[in-house]
Amino acid sequence: MPVKLQVPATCANLGPGFDALGLAVSIYNYLEVDTPVEGPGLTIHMTGEGAKNLPADERHLVYQAASRVFHHLHKPVPRLSIRQHNTIPLCSGLGSSAAAIVGGLFAANELLQRPLSRHELLNLAQAEENHPDNITPALFGGITAACATPEGVRFSTIRPAACFEALELVLAVPDYVLPTHESRRVLPNQISFADAVFNASRTALLVAALTAGDAQHLRTATEDRLHQPYRLPLVPGLQSVLEAALAAGALGAFLSGAGPTVLAFSLSDAQVVGRQMQDAFAQAGVSCTIHTSRISTTGVEIIRS
Ligand code: HSE
Repeated sequence: MPVKLQVPATCANLGPGFDALGLAVSIYNYLEVDTPVEGPGLTIHMTGEGAKNLPADERHLVYQAASRVFHHLHKPVPRLSIRQHNTIPLCSGLGSSAAAIVGGLFAANELLQRPLSRHELLNLAQAEENHPDNITPALFGGITAACATPEGVRFSTIRPAACFEALELVLAVPDYVLPTHESRRVLPNQISFADAVFNASRTALLVAALTAGDAQHLRTATEDRLHQPYRLPLVPGLQSVLEAALAAGALGAFLSGAGPTVLAFSLSDAQVVGRQMQDAFAQAGVSCTIHTSRISTTGVEIIRS
């Protein structure tokens, strides 16, 4: 029986929580993985986002992640047939790599009758991805705070207050790609103590405000001095897009992960916020697509269809 699953896009950092905070978004990649009894060792069929640009061989991240599960359990990697339909834009700061890794790990674990827990899969994913802010919400859904330790990833789920139930995620996705390694290359080796305090206080405020329902704090709580200022040259118009979102009524706005997507939190003005963000990007010569999504509460999951 093939394993069919969906895995959500994710936004990392949420402003100040660099490499720590993340949330799952209701935009999904769909995977169907099977172990045919005969035929070639690996077949990969892809449609949707990035289908023409991703390698359809052993370098494919879904295959590599699936293989990791078999190796971890000291089992031979069987023949695999992978069918994938992507709706998560590639290299856009929406966790497309994390989705592939989590999808591959989860599918292999299902094919083996679930010998590993989700937390064990998280630690295997961390070995592939090396920062836990996308992989944790991709596996568990919701908003997560994760911390890599020598013993494995520790994380907690942040449960937003009832007033955030209608929270909309307005995503402005520029039509160019920005690989994460390029976006990390511009980061400094050291930061000032004042900037560390700036980010630590905002990260703490963000977690507290989300759980307490203090919507009025989100604007301050999503400010950042650790990565966004250094990434401005890689995302033309970023500063004006953030300002346009806030001026249009967004509760908070920030770069999604390593960018170039910008995410704004909105409770009532999502259409206006999206239009203003699109205009601001256009004025900087960048065309973008606006997606209005919700927080996905489930993470990767089996689908029956
Ligand atoms: N936190 C990462 C970054 C994103 O901003 O580079 C992906 O984990």
